[in-house]
Amino acid sequence: MSKRYTITAALPYTNGPIHIGHLAGVYVPADIYARYKRLTGNDVAFICGSDEHGVPITIKAKKEGVTPQDIVDKYHAIIKTSFEDFGITFDNYSRTSAKIHHDTASEFFKTLYDKHEFVEEVTEQLYDEEANQFLADRFVTGTCPKCGNEEAYGDQCENCGSSLNATELINPKSAITGNVPTLKETKHWFLPLNKHENFLREWILKGHKKDWKPNVYGQVKSWIDDGLRPRAVTRDLDWGIPVPVPGGEGKVLYVWFDAPIGYISATKEWAAREGKDWEPYWKDENTKLVHFIGKDNIVFHCIIFPAMLKAEGSYILPDNVPANEFLNLEGNKLSTSKNWAVWLPDYLKDFPNQQDVLRYALTANAPESKDNDFTWKDFQARNNNELVAIFGNFINRVVVLTNKYYDGIVPEASEFSEVDKETLATVKAYPSVIESSIERYRFREASQELMNLARLGNKYLADEEPWKLVKTDEARTKTIMYVALQIASALATLSEPFLPFTSEKLKRILSVSSSAVENQWADISTKDVLLPSGHHIGKGELLFSKIEDKTIQEQLDKLEASKKANEAANKTLEPQKDTITFEDFTKLDIRVGTILEAEKMPKTKKLLVLKVDTGIDTRTIVSGIAESFTPEEVVGKQVTVLVNLAPRKLRGVESEGMILMTETPDGKLVFVNPDTTVNSGLQIS
Ligand code: 2FM
Ligand code: ZN
Repeated sequence: MSKRYTITAALPYTNGPIHIGHLAGVYVPADIYARYKRLTGNDVAFICGSDEHGVPITIKAKKEGVTPQDIVDKYHAIIKTSFEDFGITFDNYSRTSAKIHHDTASEFFKTLYDKHEFVEEVTEQLYDEEANQFLADRFVTGTCPKCGNEEAYGDQCENCGSSLNATELINPKSAITGNVPTLKETKHWFLPLNKHENFLREWILKGHKKDWKPNVYGQVKSWIDDGLRPRAVTRDLDWGIPVPVPGGEGKVLYVWFDAPIGYISATKEWAAREGKDWEPYWKDENTKLVHFIGKDNIVFHCIIFPAMLKAEGSYILPDNVPANEFLNLEGNKLSTSKNWAVWLPDYLKDFPNQQDVLRYALTANAPESKDNDFTWKDFQARNNNELVAIFGNFINRVVVLTNKYYDGIVPEASEFSEVDKETLATVKAYPSVIESSIERYRFREASQELMNLARLGNKYLADEEPWKLVKTDEARTKTIMYVALQIASALATLSEPFLPFTSEKLKRILSVSSSAVENQWADISTKDVLLPSGHHIGKGELLFSKIEDKTIQEQLDKLEASKKANEAANKTLEPQKDTITFEDFTKLDIRVGTILEAEKMPKTKKLLVLKVDTGIDTRTIVSGIAESFTPEEVVGKQVTVLVNLAPRKLRGVESEGMILMTETPDGKLVFVNPDTTVNSGLQIS
């Protein structure tokens, strides 16, 4: 039965591009769900947009010397393109700097204000005297009072997920100046969550919410059991939506107050564009509202936003909040600041037209019930062993043989064997098998069921061997190919939510409609024939191609380079050495030298033996640079040489001086050399 669905995906912060963690945690599962709901004939509004307020954006703008608007304009465009590139089918991708959002959020706040749903209070808040600024949210860090994490933020601890008030932090420190904040009085509006505690308890704990994922239900239960406290929903900042009530001058709405309202404003924007009424999508009890988020957003979507919606009074509440856990990368936490990530624009550059491979690898290994690890080896294995060897191989065989034996025309089937009947019956059951997993938000299980159908096709062909029978039994061969073509057709439809680009290609190959034909999904179970005899299929196209070890190694090397750069950046600089006198300095004779010859010192990894023209003479210097330079690279180079260092023997070779060098952040040695060619022997002083 057709139903109305409002499906939301967390609005990404607009202070950087998005990476595989975002895709795996939120956007791919949400897209699978939305596509599946559309394919099964439902009325779907799939909503997202850029979250353009909040402190991290202000911090980034300050660092780069640009305005917050510049930052959000840049990343909104990048993020929107990534979603389009990866086939995420939002009905609307909006942004919270849009006028419609400012209006909607202001109006929402005013309604709650008029209904006396806020507590207005002057309290002492953390203040940075030097920066002349109140410190909320990410402007302040400190120790989490719940779990002891020393890097908790003023509104949330990312380690234990707790939502915090900045004044609860132990040993708070300003993220702007590093100073210890003072306390200063300021007025704010608080949402008294304590007042909604009973309702939330009833709704979540005693209601039907036990079908929420255990990770979500467990977190919410522990917060409610802990007792809820009022939360400030305004801030003393200048980037955000102005507080629209008397006394609100110079203050803005807390980003987590306005962002979820972004789902509503994006729905309004979409409905206006499509000539639809937005209200049933948010106010009709028969609409199913589902929020796809990452686990760090649970408190906001399961406690704060529902409390806001309830306080407003005219909205429905979420039916489910299928939050995912986190994805790690090669054993380490994904990190923007450490560049430990696979950014979507980079992936597409390195793997053009291979969006489905990433979608599949991330789904098959999704962090649904616990944190999970993305490894490039697993990615390669998912591609080579499943997409290429099973799915692609089956389709390729069916299409090649149909074209070869029957000029691309689906043959007539004669009598079905028991195996044929069983196979066709199994195919009919697949929509409900996959559906049952998707309805329980088990997308990895669903993706494996899809692969099982391709496996079934592969096994069917391998067992029936039409390529052998074609010489002896024409009728049987036709029946086998007919059955195999029905499986291929079912795969074309059932793969759409998971592998949309492949599904489209496959539909093109099979010459079937690629638009969302109503009941396409249900047809697989109800119709006896998906591809009728006489139907003309098209030419084959390669669906997937093997990924070589070399390609994977390149990705691993990239990560290794990030790691090295980080280690170098984190290396603490050596403290300054003891002061020397000018006389001490003049004792050093530093000159420009030119390397005339170079060769590796036998049986060593690091040493090169150099002949250097110092202007005074040509001498031998043994230098530990062989891991950064080949001998050929250094010949002819001008370098800085300490010429009056006492000679010493290295591996039996007397070294008469020292080449001055430094190390780059990624660990490579570089010469300290003059930037124009000068005569050897010139003194450096
Ligand atoms: O965690 C985040 O990236 C937030 N920007 C998510 C916001 S979801 C919402 F409610 F808008
Ligand atoms: Zn904590």
